[in-house]
Amino acid sequence: MRLIMIGFGNLGRAFGRSLLEKKEFLLTNYGLTPSVVAAVDEYGAAVDEGGLDVKKLLKTAEKANTVADYPARGKKGRSALEVIEEVEADLVFELTPTNIKNGEPGLTHIKKAMMAGRHVITSNKGPLVVAFRELDRLAKQKGVEFRYSGSVGGAVPVIGLAKKMLAGNMVHAIRGVLNGTTNYILTRMSKEGAPFDVVLREAQELGIAEKDPTLDIEGTDTACKITILANAVLGISAKLKDVKVVGIRRIRPEAIRLAQEAGYAVKLIGVAKRDSLEVGPKLVPVGHPLAVGGTLNAVTFETDLAREVTITGFGAGPRETSSALLGDLIDIHTALGD
Ligand code: HSE
Repeated sequence: MRLIMIGFGNLGRAFGRSLLEKKEFLLTNYGLTPSVVAAVDEYGAAVDEGGLDVKKLLKTAEKANTVADYPARGKKGRSALEVIEEVEADLVFELTPTNIKNGEPGLTHIKKAMMAGRHVITSNKGPLVVAFRELDRLAKQKGVEFRYSGSVGGAVPVIGLAKKMLAGNMVHAIRGVLNGTTNYILTRMSKEGAPFDVVLREAQELGIAEKDPTLDIEGTDTACKITILANAVLGISAKLKDVKVVGIRRIRPEAIRLAQEAGYAVKLIGVAKRDSLEVGPKLVPVGHPLAVGGTLNAVTFETDLAREVTITGFGAGPRETSSALLGDLIDIHTALGD
């Protein structure tokens, strides 16, 4: 399968490394031989329709900080849109940073890729919170596959669990700890009574916080994930502005300590129901499946047949998110019967 990678930052590179690491595994288990025919970043592109050498691509990106320096096949100033339109490929990975205001540049990349008849995989929340329905419709209209598992829960297969294994259920509500940064901050504050600003810095050092960490702290990142789940699982045409959001900035170590003494943990919980979407700090009994610590995520589906199903794991990080991207790639390969 010929792949175009748009965005070759931390995530793109981690995914490139996963492709190398899993080369034999993909061939043996799925008969899948991915070939990266183009990689694009903000400075330019590397293109080889016969397949780029991913090892060389990673080395170039790490040394020169752009794929445009790839020997002989790299070109500064070659844009993602040019590559999507001009390079023969089966599937586009859209891995540029999230922009929740207008979804760009990811939104245009995804639309162009679909219009050109290419399948799309993304973990970029921006295009999904701005135009989920539009993209879903366009994919159907153009007869292309569209997957976005990595956008919610990182490595935790939240969307796959709901859409596949729970497909026979009516999902009444989704509740979750969907942001690793705030969960880390709340956990550290509860364990050592550490001050907010100190633990926020620690979370940033872990490399899981958004570039602008106010998006984590103020609950916006969780609201993005609730918007995506509302669309993908509950079938609601929701946008980010439909979510009522309260963040964790005002929570004091003292409040967390008092909650703890009463047997509760303070968690930033996102809730999606058919009639309401909200994010805010909530008291969760210690020992409850959603009372996960550190950078973990956890999501509970409330359903008719299965009753409650909770899934937990690592919701952030490039290597963890690569797990979701690779899962989506295998899923599309299988869906196409290749
Ligand atoms: N900033 C996010 C988090 C990254 O902390 O969970 C994953 O979306």
